[in-house]
Amino acid sequence: MTLELPAGVRVREPREDDHGRVLAVLDLWWGGLKGASGAWERRLLLPRFLFQHFTPSSRLVEADDGTLLAFLIGFLSQTDPASAYIHFVGVAPSARRAGLGSWLYQDFFTRAASHGRRWIHAITSPENARSIAFHTSLGFTIAPGGSAVDGIPAHPDYDGPGLPRVVFRKAS
Ligand SMILES: CC(C)(COP(=O)(O)OP(=O)(O)OC[C@H]1O[C@@H](n2cnc3c(N)ncnc32)[C@H](O)[C@@H]1OP(=O)(O)O)[C@@H](O)C(=O)NCCC(=O)NCCS
Repeated sequence: MTLELPAGVRVREPREDDHGRVLAVLDLWWGGLKGASGAWERRLLLPRFLFQHFTPSSRLVEADDGTLLAFLIGFLSQTDPASAYIHFVGVAPSARRAGLGSWLYQDFFTRAASHGRRWIHAITSPENARSIAFHTSLGFTIAPGGSAVDGIPAHPDYDGPGLPRVVFRKAS
């Protein structure tokens, strides 16, 4: 499937000096999900090294005036030559439901496939209904989990004690 990038936006690889401005939008873009502990968790999920050493496989989207509209942090698996992993994605509230998140994912799928990666992996918090709807709309399947949150299979303690995750996989 080929998607059109919405008009008036530009896409590039992130740079180290984008780290702070991406961290600065997380609370607003995630709508304060899971309160103060969620905010802390999200900041720790985006350490600076991702903006130093994982940039060729990641993307940042800006409006023509430079306003940050979206980002995707992903990489080719170092362990499994058939896999790639999308770690974090965000789209500004004002730019949602216009296909930007789908465009970033499709773009990543294409680049992953060009490197021979047949599988795309991602995870999300079971509380993040929007993210679950987004991933399933793009064809991701949810792996069976040891528990369910609101009927969604989740893996308890997946990312550490008290940090359950929904685990997605999709053919690229
Ligand atoms: C999840 C997110 C990235 C989606 O970005 P987006 O650009 O709005 O997504 P798209 O416009 O490409 O949506 C594609 C499809 O996903 C589904 N979807 C997206 N947002 C949805 C929502 N709020 N409710 C239900 N379905 C939704 C729909 O099926 C949508 O297709 P449609 O608009 O034709 O109905 C964005 O909402 C976001 O940044 N949320 C906060 C951060 C986050 O939770 N990130 C993911 C976890 S790391």
